[in-house]
Amino acid sequence: MAVNRKILILPGDYIGPEVVDQVRRVIDWLSDVRSVTLEVEDDYFGGAAVEAYGEPLADKTLDKAKTADAVLMGAVGGPKFDHLPRDIRPEAGLLKLRKKLDLFANLRPAMTFDALLGASSLKSEVIKGLDILIVRELTSGIYFGEPRGIEGKENERIAIDTQRYRENEIYRVAEVAFELAREREGILHSVDKENVMATGILWRDVVTNLQRDRYSDVELRHLYVDNCAMQLVREPKQFDVIVTDNMFGDILSDCASMVTGSLGMLPSASLGAPDSNGRRLALYEPVHGSAPDIAGLNIANPLAAILSFSMMLKHSLDMVEDGLLVERAVCAVLDDGMRTADITEPGATELSTDAMGDALLEKLMRMSEA
Ligand code: IPM
Ligand code: MG
Repeated sequence: MAVNRKILILPGDYIGPEVVDQVRRVIDWLSDVRSVTLEVEDDYFGGAAVEAYGEPLADKTLDKAKTADAVLMGAVGGPKFDHLPRDIRPEAGLLKLRKKLDLFANLRPAMTFDALLGASSLKSEVIKGLDILIVRELTSGIYFGEPRGIEGKENERIAIDTQRYRENEIYRVAEVAFELAREREGILHSVDKENVMATGILWRDVVTNLQRDRYSDVELRHLYVDNCAMQLVREPKQFDVIVTDNMFGDILSDCASMVTGSLGMLPSASLGAPDSNGRRLALYEPVHGSAPDIAGLNIANPLAAILSFSMMLKHSLDMVEDGLLVERAVCAVLDDGMRTADITEPGATELSTDAMGDALLEKLMRMSEA
């Protein structure tokens, strides 16, 4: 009997719709050739939702996200929306979606592709074979802590942000990171600012105790965030899984993605807690932004969105083999010298967004027949 899975697609703004269109083609193809029916529903999100509904994340969209097996997002934001009041900016919609779905574990892989080593500003030998996974806490810390705001009279204003963590918020994201580290290389780097911050002391304590109680088979190494930033650029391959808080994770994941040199290739997943059936709410999105400067030109790189979908296949749809197939197809297309404008180089074949989608589908068909 055919299994049904529901995917909510939030294309978002600028190049968002263009890159997710290529994912739709992969979804349709899988639906045709597998005994799984992947049902897709769409909604507005971000700036597009401000235009359609007057707010970046409407309640009805949130309800759809809660009942879907997984959500795929394109990208949100851009200059058209920068003048909006802060509470209805696209970014506010994204933060609300994370918080309301309680997507506390943000997985941001940073890996290099052999075919693209030249794209990094670091030497090839430093990054060849790089495969890091940053696990960023996503629903707490300074992004959400109260009190926050600006108060006081003109010229004497005070701005307040609050970094705040509860033990269980640290525990649950560390648990996700330890599980992943156990499946991978068995080493976890935990990053904090324990020499300065109270939250850093608690962070280190909770992670240390968790390792002692449940993950003594995983090697745990603690690192200050400033040192981690330095080490990421100096010798990135010393890392496998890194776990850190919301703000540090925001910064370190940008740093790690640029180390690979191919921002247009990187996917991400944000996961909630499993329910009694082991089902987690989950949001998948490319790491790149909405790229207003190239929107509408059919030149955006769809591979990060496609790789985000492959993470969805693995983490949410119980289709691990197909997720791996999609990843292999992406590598094969690159090995054939196919490139979108952002990753092109002399001698390569430069393709439009659609043409990259064509090339990928052709590979998928060929590889699944083989
Ligand atoms: C990210 C982005 C967001 C964040 C912004 C757009 C709110 O930088 O996903 O890394 O800071 O979390
Ligand atoms: Mg960021």
